[in-house]
Amino acid sequence: MALVNMKEMLYHAYHNGYAVGAFDLVSLDFLEGIIDAAERCHAPVILSLAESHFEYFDIELVMPAVVAAAKRATIPVAIHLDHGESIESAVQAINLGCNGIMLDSSQQALTDNIKTTRAVVDMAHACGVPVEGELGYVPGVEGEDAERHPGEVSYTTVTEAKDYVTQTEVDFLAVSIGTVHGRMQGKPKLDFIRLQEINDALAIPLVIHGGTGLSDDQFQQLIGCGVSKINYYTSLADKAGLQIRDNANTNPHLGYTGLTTGIRNAISVEVERCIRLWGSANRAEELLSQCAPWMPVEHLIIYNVDGITEQQANTMMQQGREILSTIPGVLEVVTGHAVQDDASYRYTWLIRFCHPAVIESYRTHPEHVAFADTLFRPVAGERISIDYQTS
Ligand code: 13P
Repeated sequence: MALVNMKEMLYHAYHNGYAVGAFDLVSLDFLEGIIDAAERCHAPVILSLAESHFEYFDIELVMPAVVAAAKRATIPVAIHLDHGESIESAVQAINLGCNGIMLDSSQQALTDNIKTTRAVVDMAHACGVPVEGELGYVPGVEGEDAERHPGEVSYTTVTEAKDYVTQTEVDFLAVSIGTVHGRMQGKPKLDFIRLQEINDALAIPLVIHGGTGLSDDQFQQLIGCGVSKINYYTSLADKAGLQIRDNANTNPHLGYTGLTTGIRNAISVEVERCIRLWGSANRAEELLSQCAPWMPVEHLIIYNVDGITEQQANTMMQQGREILSTIPGVLEVVTGHAVQDDASYRYTWLIRFCHPAVIESYRTHPEHVAFADTLFRPVAGERISIDYQTS
């Protein structure tokens, strides 16, 4: 299990002068290409899923593959929701296995941005999950994602950044200092003085969106000013597109698998270039030795019921599965009946929390309290309840 806490990962990068790549993925080819490159380079990596891309795939189907890839990896991995649009999508992402959340309310007025972000931070921190906020606005210029970021650039100011971070308690801050989402037109002018001032004032890992198209020396300067996470997508999409066009030109009769051959490798080559450039190569071992693995907790209850029929017990369990699985930090709710007729306890709940912090936030969550007090505890007096840290 090489899933790690993203906060520990980014603070390691921040204190050791390198940046971790957060690569947005839209298919299994992207996922495998990113992981292959990080493994080759012995580098930490962030598997990033942008909410605006959920129209291309079903996030509920893709996340199990992303979690499996992270668990199988030998390098430190975090799974991140990029540009989350609401608290509901942040909860969904955490419950599907994301252990980092970016909430993008950067287009809102400062006070609204603070309010929305604060609500997400409270929810996510109660699940042990760190949050990236964004202040200022990074627009799109050209490329397949550019239209998703309409409007004019708005630069992050030091005063607002201090205010925002103090009031929201975000763990990382995405700043706007001249980068754009999508392809660059010419060499962008980045405001490094502003960035250094923000870094001096905040002393927390900073994030750059719109990594595509920056020059090698710009990346070095960004990292020198506290940037510890670089978001990168358009270049990967362009490399994949180029590979498909090359395949089609070589043989116009190719089908799907022929046309998509080589995409994984093309992405992997570009990700490796970024990893080496941003200084995260060969950091995996040290980072793994310094941070605790990200491990779920199993909340196990075994119980007998009194005063209700088997059918009513089944209905109660079905209601529980529906209600409890929506509580932040709950990865899975399983109910069961004893296989042996003479078992001491006839029923079970097995609820998987993403992090030990959820033991407390789940216990006091209003939906859990209401379910437990009205539907469960009155009929299940005879029960044993234990939380297990699992690996
Ligand atoms: P690019 O598409 O410009 O690389 O930016 C990606 C990004 O910032 C995703 O959040």
